[in-house]
Amino acid sequence: MKKTFGILIASAALAVASFDANAQAPADIPADMNVLMQKYTCIACHRPNQRLVGPAYADVAKKKYSNDEIVKLIYTPNPAHWPGYPPMAPMTQVPKEDAMKLAVWINSLDGDAKTKTTTKKTTTTKKSKKSA
Ligand code: HEC
Repeated sequence: MKKTFGILIASAALAVASFDANAQAPADIPADMNVLMQKYTCIACHRPNQRLVGPAYADVAKKKYSNDEIVKLIYTPNPAHWPGYPPMAPMTQVPKEDAMKLAVWINSLDGDAKTKTTTKKTTTTKKSKKSA
């Protein structure tokens, strides 16, 4: 049990490290969200469309939580929602404002919803360079 957890942390740290080395967002993460994902280390365990340590955000979106519910779950995860996954640590260091931004984005990833015209995309500038 303890050992598994150690490995989990190690691989999470590794994921962050190698990601920083690239300093580039995967194509499916908008630059502004990439900044938050890195800052709060969500990126180590989550991807929009891929299961990593934690569930793909697209799968979270399918659960149809409200944005407020997602913010709550970031602060107090409920592992019972995700059988077969390790429990997520409470991410209480994330300011509410940023947690809400992440929640809104996560909820926008529901693939079943009508593909929205993402006109916002043009505003994604490269401000992800800030971590040195
Ligand atoms: C060390 C790995 C790890 C990190 C870092 C992490 N998560 Fe998770 N996350 C998980 C796992 C594992 C689950 C599924 C089990 C659970 O909910 O406890 C999960 C579940 C979730 C869920 C679904 C909650 C539910 O009950 O359906 C959301 C939303 C989420 N994470 C968002 C985030 C956000 C936002 C961050 C960054 C602030 C983050 N996670 C950081 C591993 C992680």
